[in-house]
Amino acid sequence: MRLDKFLCDALGATRKEATKIIKSGDVTVNDEVVKSGAIKVTETCVVEWQGREIQKQGPRYIMLYKPDGFVCSHEDGFNHTAFVLLDEVKMEDLHFAGRLDVDTTGLVLITDDGQWSHRITSPKHKCAKTYRVWLADAIGDDYAEKLAQGIELRNEKEATLPASMEIVDASNNELLLTITEGKYHQVKRMFAALGNKVDQLHRERIGNIVLDDALEPGEYRYLTQEEVDSVWS
Ligand code: URA
Repeated sequence: MRLDKFLCDALGATRKEATKIIKSGDVTVNDEVVKSGAIKVTETCVVEWQGREIQKQGPRYIMLYKPDGFVCSHEDGFNHTAFVLLDEVKMEDLHFAGRLDVDTTGLVLITDDGQWSHRITSPKHKCAKTYRVWLADAIGDDYAEKLAQGIELRNEKEATLPASMEIVDASNNELLLTITEGKYHQVKRMFAALGNKVDQLHRERIGNIVLDDALEPGEYRYLTQEEVDSVWS
């Protein structure tokens, strides 16, 4: 593919804009400054603009470690959107494959592939999500059984689907909860229904995709092909 076409696709630029960018001398292909849009780029070429690699065409799959205080939407009048943490082109094409509350931290997946995210968010597919939960009060002896049976939430017609709970540190009221739905404020409402309160919530896993230990809050990375494919299995 010609370099100018590659940049048009990758940056959402017009041919005229791509030509201007290339002429500016800020574009390199395999570390060589290139000033002609006609040169051919192949799969193995590394194209950079102002020192930043321009991703090849194709869907993007991102894992972000969402910090406290960011919302999972494009717009919010009060809080920062988590999108400000991404250094990506064509931001308007990206969406969250499932949201977290503003005060929940941890794994969020972001993509421009609607079919892939549907697989994660559609109730039909029952994709498991694991949360680390810190409760205000002691973990009740009956919680595991009640969560496995399903909890009646206020303003919901049906009980929650069976959820599994594992105590991590009883003295700290800390546990892991795995649910296969994504109702509004679901985890907080489940524990409220049990007479407790979630103090802190952190998502560690979605399906087989685990939040990368190497990421600090606010950092992100692209998913590996294996992680992307795991959603279909
Ligand atoms: N359940 C909640 O209550 N909040 C979240 O952010 C995610 C799941």
